[in-house]
Amino acid sequence: MRKRKIIIGNWKMNPESAKLAETLYKNIIKGKFSAQNTDVVICPPYVFLGRLKKISKKIQLGVQNISKEERGPFTGEISAEMAYDVGARYAILGHSERRTMGETDRDVNKKIKLALSAGLVPILCVGESSREGGHEYFSIIKKQISECMTGVNKNSVSKTIIAYEPVWALSSTANRHDFAPPEFLEIKIFIKKVLSDMFGAKTELPRIIYGGSVRPDNALEFLRDGQADGLLPGKDSLDPKKFLEIIKIANSLEKH
Ligand code: PGA
Repeated sequence: MRKRKIIIGNWKMNPESAKLAETLYKNIIKGKFSAQNTDVVICPPYVFLGRLKKISKKIQLGVQNISKEERGPFTGEISAEMAYDVGARYAILGHSERRTMGETDRDVNKKIKLALSAGLVPILCVGESSREGGHEYFSIIKKQISECMTGVNKNSVSKTIIAYEPVWALSSTANRHDFAPPEFLEIKIFIKKVLSDMFGAKTELPRIIYGGSVRPDNALEFLRDGQADGLLPGKDSLDPKKFLEIIKIANSLEKH
């Protein structure tokens, strides 16, 4: 079955103020893009969610993290339920920037289950830090998926999204390299195999998307040649012109 493409903007800890976030959001909405064939999601810092939700319902919203606990004395944490209540419908989980702050696969596993039960679509980020170990990246991806998805109900697998984000290709990584878009297909097939082995061949699989320096000049190649089901731009989601261009590319492709 052909899946709808999805473009997810990860704003990370940007912009600096609610006013700037509103302006950025309005400039994206103003783009009058047609999201007919593509789902569009923006994950701003959660403190801006309420304000952005009021501006337009044209774009769905998400958070960049949730607590691994359901509720209680966890100072500074935001639960899956709270994120849903203020308007989030997606949650980026296990991002490499959070893993470097100490988040483990076990934590991500708890978060995925809490997100699903709160009605949020978990966007599970996986990916190796470098390619120095030859083909070791396959076992790294497999371990991350197996540990993060363990115990997930097989009927919920298709309600998640798996984002392959090689850390060495992120725009914020020093001495970064570009990941060659056609090579995404190999990763996608591998992830499908890992999930089928885990949950059974008949299990409906999730969308498998790419993130790591996604730009208007490589989006088409990732979606067409790499057969990505969607894209997760960070830096370029903060530039309305570039983000709109990426959405336009995804939309045009589905028509063929
Ligand atoms: P980037 O970020 O597009 O700036 O590389 C992607 C991400 O970290 O999710």
